Amino acid sequence: MIQATRTPSSPLAKTIVLVGLMGTGKSSIGRRLAKRFGMEFADADDEVAKAAGCSIEDIFELYGEEAFRDGERKVIMRLLDEKPRVMATGGGAFMDPRIRARIAERGISVWLRADLDVLVRRTRRRGGRPLLKNADPRATLAALIDERYPVYAEADIVIDTGDEPVEITTGRVDQALGAFLKAAQAAAESTP
Ligand code: S3P
Repeated sequence: MIQATRTPSSPLAKTIVLVGLMGTGKSSIGRRLAKRFGMEFADADDEVAKAAGCSIEDIFELYGEEAFRDGERKVIMRLLDEKPRVMATGGGAFMDPRIRARIAERGISVWLRADLDVLVRRTRRRGGRPLLKNADPRATLAALIDERYPVYAEADIVIDTGDEPVEITTGRVDQALGAFLKAAQAAAESTP
């Protein structure tokens, strides 16, 4: 059963999994949430890079996207099987039905949703994203929105993000999680 109260000394019983497209702030919000909840934070991309011994860009270039997706799935499955924590996932991870199924069992998924203009602006700030290393990253992001948003919509919680400070979005996720847990607990208590 989900534990409703959370303080630094009583962390959540499930892993909080942040999903969404590149540039939505999954890592920075995840880090802040983990601090608020007194939980550990893991960035799945960093863990994949650590396991491979090279950057995400190099994995794509040397071994291809399929190899990256295999590594990504293994790392996320392992992280989900460990103790509950806050985890930021790479934008493609939630598209894998096996990963989604394990997240549904072991986690609470939070989709950070942003519109195309926001994503274009934000992804310009940091490189290192192989899918956007092309002549028209805006068109790539638009295509990814079409393909992925219907699947991201399966997340337990959806939070819209724009240009507000990261602390504000973090607070909104915190609040939404509180409401989600309360509703889950009420549902569990009303089940005979
Ligand atoms: C990807 C997103 C990236 C990284 C890889 C592929 C994707 O992570 O996993 O470049 O398919 O959307 P971020 O969403 O953290 O940038």
